[in-house]
Amino acid sequence: MKILVVDNYAEMSRAAADIFGEVIKENPTCVLGLATGDTPIGLYDCLIDDYKTGKLDFAGVRTVNLDEYYPISPDNDQSYRYFMNEKLFDSINIDKKNTMVPDGLAKDANKFCREYEEMIDSLGGIDVQVLGVGRNGHVGFNEPEDGLYPYTHLTDLTANTIEANSRFFASEADVPKQALTMGMSSIFKARKIVVMASGKGKAEAVKTMLGGRITTSCPATLLALHNDVVLICDKDAYSLV
Ligand code: GLP
Repeated sequence: MKILVVDNYAEMSRAAADIFGEVIKENPTCVLGLATGDTPIGLYDCLIDDYKTGKLDFAGVRTVNLDEYYPISPDNDQSYRYFMNEKLFDSINIDKKNTMVPDGLAKDANKFCREYEEMIDSLGGIDVQVLGVGRNGHVGFNEPEDGLYPYTHLTDLTANTIEANSRFFASEADVPKQALTMGMSSIFKARKIVVMASGKGKAEAVKTMLGGRITTSCPATLLALHNDVVLICDKDAYSLV
């Protein structure tokens, strides 16, 4: 794993955007793996800037998102579909048909998960995947557990994640209790992975992630098994290493 420690969130975002930009320029029909949360918003802002200044063209780009609450409507302003439209897709020249986010209203969640996995394979896999890290070391919605499901699946959210994500909802009770998420093996199909972490709140997770021990009780530690991962974090997130 390569590690890049930068001063702050803005530098982290620019460094990640430059990696994404190289992949897009090299292959204008590449597949980007995208994530939600506060962490990648700066990256998306940089990609929008690069589009507006003519440096990047998204006309042929395809995207696949990591996860989505379940159940949730795409019109709900807390859905990850809504987030992606608002934070990125509506501000670049991407064809929305080429943007895949798990369907929070899928009638048969298990069938949907199988199809989502097949869809990733049919795109030829993901060229570059961005990941944030949960405070508890979760990746996507792969929560700390004794065992993990490798491929896209329906999962229960832990109390820790419900509490962490309640800041976006009217109340904790409004946070969906389940989610659809790519599994660690789905994520590992990506040829390149960019992990981002910013702020003191992520310091413990980054310390465990780099602690040299792989465990499903901190899914981020599994990233040590992939051969092309770059961790970009700011000084605060790196402060306990
Ligand atoms: C959510 C998402 C994750 C994300 C995590 C951290 O639970 N499912 O993909 O990495 O939160 O979010 P943030 O970047 O806001 O700290």
